Amino acid sequence: MKAIIWTKYGSPDVLELKEVEKPTPRDNEVLIKIIAATVFTGDCEMRGFDFPISFWLPLRLLFGFRKPRIKILGQELAGEIEAVGTEVTQFQKGDQVFAPTDRRFGAYAEYICLPSTHPMAIKPANMSYEEAATIPIGGLNALHFLRKGNIQSGEKVLIYGAAGGIGTFAVQIAKMFGAEVSAVDSTRKLDMLRSIGADHVIDYTQEDFTKNGETYDVIVDVVGKSSFSRSLRSLKQDGRYILGNPRLTGMIKGLWTSITSSKKVIIALAGYRTDDLVFLKELVEAGKIKSVIDRRYPLEKVAEAHRYVETGQKTGNVVITLGHNNKI
Ligand SMILES: NC(=O)c1ccc[n+]([C@@H]2O[C@H](COP(=O)([O-])OP(=O)(O)OC[C@H]3O[C@@H](n4cnc5c(N)ncnc54)[C@H](OP(=O)(O)O)[C@@H]3O)[C@@H](O)[C@H]2O)c1
Repeated sequence: MKAIIWTKYGSPDVLELKEVEKPTPRDNEVLIKIIAATVFTGDCEMRGFDFPISFWLPLRLLFGFRKPRIKILGQELAGEIEAVGTEVTQFQKGDQVFAPTDRRFGAYAEYICLPSTHPMAIKPANMSYEEAATIPIGGLNALHFLRKGNIQSGEKVLIYGAAGGIGTFAVQIAKMFGAEVSAVDSTRKLDMLRSIGADHVIDYTQEDFTKNGETYDVIVDVVGKSSFSRSLRSLKQDGRYILGNPRLTGMIKGLWTSITSSKKVIIALAGYRTDDLVFLKELVEAGKIKSVIDRRYPLEKVAEAHRYVETGQKTGNVVITLGHNNKI
């Protein structure tokens, strides 16, 4: 099968198209023919090992000290089950599924084997494979962050870094919870944010939301760039500040704030579960959430897709499409 192989940390040039052995499912696994995947900002951070210094050592130990232990990147996919192991009862050949790959990665390839107990669900009936591939990581993280915020109908919620892979789902899910949503991102992304339901949009390149005199019940910082102290001041008395992409300093300050004040700082690290994926599928089918796709690239252009994502211009999601026809 064709796959994009990653053998060292570095620029997008380290990603190479190669022919590798097609995996065979074990007794408890399904073999998925991948039809669409995404280039998530997190994939680029992994590839270039672009992480805060405080996480450098633990993440190098986890993912490979001198070179990556994982050979194929890609964290989410949609595709068709081509074969199932003898012990698999939940899925059958021909099922159209979508899934995060989680820390095993591997979605930049024509095929992947996943345990049948892995978070995975039948893809929404009203979505293409390309649209469905954008749901798992963005949708599951957004759902987790907003549930942590315990949002009540009518509350004012601000999403910081709202126009990306996670933020576009956070805006829509917060609306679905009945919140009045303010979405913060850069100038050219604001129309899209209005189109997916944001009640207010704030251009962070022109305006600092912490100085606009408003206070919020919940602030969700998806991108990890809001000012900790000023954001706290923009929270109401019992407000919740959700750190979706926390730094070590934020974690320490957050713990102290939660102990010493009525405001809560919540470090939100999502775990992925099948029932949450099914919940997202139902939201899609009920017309409550949709995916925002910016660009599509074929598998052989993954490096180019990484270059584009790294410009910061990506609005919503960048999708990788797999044709399953060309041999290299
Ligand atoms: N599994 C995972 O990979 C995973 C899970 C959880 C969290 N995360 C991390 O969470 C972060 C966000 O993920 P994502 O996929 O949603 O990222 P994304 O798609 O790159 O979106 C981030 C958005 O934030 C905007 N932004 C950048 N700087 C900003 C600032 N100072 N103020 C407000 N908005 C700003 C960007 O717009 P402009 O570039 O136009 O400014 C962009 O629209 C990433 O660092 C990611 O690694 C990853």
